[in-house]
Amino acid sequence: MFSVVVLVSGAGSNLKALLEATSNPMFPAQVVGVGSDKASIALEHAEQFRVPTFVVEPSGFSSTEAWAKVLLSNVEYLKPDLVVLAGFMKILPANFVNALSPRIINLHPSLLPEFRGAHAVRDALAAGVKKTGATIHIVDEGVDTGKILLQQEVEIPAGISEPELLTKIQVVERQQLVEAVRMLASGELELAGS
Ligand code: GRF
Repeated sequence: MFSVVVLVSGAGSNLKALLEATSNPMFPAQVVGVGSDKASIALEHAEQFRVPTFVVEPSGFSSTEAWAKVLLSNVEYLKPDLVVLAGFMKILPANFVNALSPRIINLHPSLLPEFRGAHAVRDALAAGVKKTGATIHIVDEGVDTGKILLQQEVEIPAGISEPELLTKIQVVERQQLVEAVRMLASGELELAGS
């Protein structure tokens, strides 16, 4: 069975959607572990689905690389076919990314390469564009720069607030994540060649 480790930091709505999908025995993948850089609500979703969790907090490590090495050893112990960054809010250093690439993907709430970085929804509103979207891409050493796997547009109605637009995008990205994992697990989508 195609195995997935999900890394989270926050609410975990994407993780929850994936856990619900993978609880269907017909789904071709399973979540084998959920990791976080801090205590988070997302970990409670994992526990509800009886998926093992681990937390590796950066504090207490002498460098980002030293922290990432321990995080990596937790991930590698589970031997995943795929690692999903689903709202993982720390930038991962090269020693982590290079060990896993291209088997590591990220969700980003914009139509990349538009609006990279941590404020993609706010930046799209500030730019006055009429549409934004959701993107799933392979993680490389840059910030939101890796090969794009799936992308879907989301219209921006006049007067919409930032939280409302984020909610609208997240509805799309939850479905997109489940679809990406299904397609990767069934060989309809490939990570190689990036
Ligand atoms: C998502 O909107 C994702 O695009 C961004 O962080 C958010 C995570 O949400 N990288 P959640 O924790 O899955 O609810």
